[in-house]
Amino acid sequence: VFGENRKNSMGVATDIESEWTPFADKVAQYMTDSQWHAAPLVNGETLNGDAQPVLSPYNRSLQVGTLAFASEQHASQALDIAAESFASWAALKAEARGEYLLKLADKLEENLPELVALCHREAGKTIHDSIDEVREAVDFLRYYPVEATTMMDSPESFTHFTGESRTAVYSGRGVFTCISPWNFPLAIFIGQVAAALVAGNTVVAKPAEQTSLIAYRAIQLLLETGIPAGVVHLLPGKGAVVGNALTRDERIAGVAFTGSTPTAQRINQSLAQRDAEPVPLIAETGGQNAMIVDSTALPEQVVRDVLRSAFASAGQRCSALRVLYVQEDIAERVITLIRGAMSELSVGEPSLLSTDVGPVIDEMAQRKLKAHIAEMDRHAEKVASVKLDASCDNGTFVAPTAFEIDSISRLDQEHFGPILHILRYKADELDQIIDQINQTGFGLTLGVHSRNEGTYRHIDKRARVGNCYINRDQVGAMVGVQPFGGQGLSGTGPKAGGPHYLHRFAKVEVQA
Ligand code: NAD
Ligand code: ALA
Repeated sequence: VFGENRKNSMGVATDIESEWTPFADKVAQYMTDSQWHAAPLVNGETLNGDAQPVLSPYNRSLQVGTLAFASEQHASQALDIAAESFASWAALKAEARGEYLLKLADKLEENLPELVALCHREAGKTIHDSIDEVREAVDFLRYYPVEATTMMDSPESFTHFTGESRTAVYSGRGVFTCISPWNFPLAIFIGQVAAALVAGNTVVAKPAEQTSLIAYRAIQLLLETGIPAGVVHLLPGKGAVVGNALTRDERIAGVAFTGSTPTAQRINQSLAQRDAEPVPLIAETGGQNAMIVDSTALPEQVVRDVLRSAFASAGQRCSALRVLYVQEDIAERVITLIRGAMSELSVGEPSLLSTDVGPVIDEMAQRKLKAHIAEMDRHAEKVASVKLDASCDNGTFVAPTAFEIDSISRLDQEHFGPILHILRYKADELDQIIDQINQTGFGLTLGVHSRNEGTYRHIDKRARVGNCYINRDQVGAMVGVQPFGGQGLSGTGPKAGGPHYLHRFAKVEVQA
């Protein structure tokens, strides 16, 4: 259903089928033959620890590899080495630091079959999403070095009519803690690390518990580029243990975090309790994302974009559509078409390119989403629910489901999975619904479908969101084209994949 040509960050259309076919055998071989391992990787050394099995969300009896968590002592050791390594790393030109990232981009491409297999197995992503994942990571690795070189290697000068001249000189801040989520286990993980490194910081990175294997593999490949081992360390571990240790420590100079809003709030508290200088927190968090469809919209196009926005990646994108507002004049037709289109969704079968929706990340996510569906069953009208076949029996699948609800206030938190909520509105209620969306406090993505330019410009202006998409789907922001990030409860900015992102990772001195 979502299978169509995609574009890379340079806007070049690529046919996923022809890209995939030459790799298919190798990917299948990695899937069947490989077991991966992750452990703390400090100063280029893998540290031993108690390893536990990592199971695939597609099939909970399928082991993908083993994982040993880091301890607080490992965190302290990594912070010491990262602090010692800062001065020499910061003294390099941004271009020289960027060379390592460009080499890593090449290595990710060379290792595409393995990374696709690993991402698919460990994160439960479909084949489409796994390819996109590696591609987005490559985009970040090629984008930030160019931005850093412009910002840092050619300092900006300011002249004034008084005859004075000043130069803005950017440099790294120190040791950056990078904490990432499982839903973009390579792209967001490596995007944060790349930005921090190229801006002149050393890095201690903590990936999500659920997706440490692919993060470990990425750092192994980064070390293979010849980057000094002291500048980047990986600490797989529990958020409450290792994440907490890395955010309350006085040696850190900043935190780049992507994950849920409650975790961002906890990190903010840890930072506030440090008896040290205040440091920047970049926190990109969750959303309660809506789409507004007025009566001038084209229903078939709306339905295609609704399905991709709500159900691609099993709804596990921060940008995913959660609440669809449809003007009542076309609501019946749109809902009927959504019902029909949902019946065509292919859920489950892991290795098929035609699979649209994979599993959710783990049992806890599955439990929470099923509880929400049960709650909605009591208070809302079910529009459609995809029937899961036997291929889903052993995995953590949740049936893509749509409900009609009477008020957005039924949704008091982000439900991070394939569940769509639909609301009808009257033409004269447009401003009221935009205000309702703003009042959720979240402000990540908004979709608008309307052929009336005055309407979509008005919505875009009044809505308080980070990324507004008009007459298209609202997921899959492209690096360098759609800088991505939220407002309010959805994030602090600056936007990832945009020209301002690196500024928060650097300090600036205005020199005479
Ligand atoms: P999460 O908040 O549970 O975990 C994110 C990371 O924080 C993990 O590495 C986790 O171990 C760590 N962590 C947990 N507790 C911590 C603590 N006390 N101190 C330090 N670190 C801690 O989020 P998740 O479930 O991994 O990811 C899904 C969430 O991420 C969703 O809310 C989604 O909307 C959001 N997200 C946002 C964006 C964006 O760009 N806005 C992108 C992707 C995902
Ligand atoms: N950048 C991701 C998207 O736009 C989160 O879907």
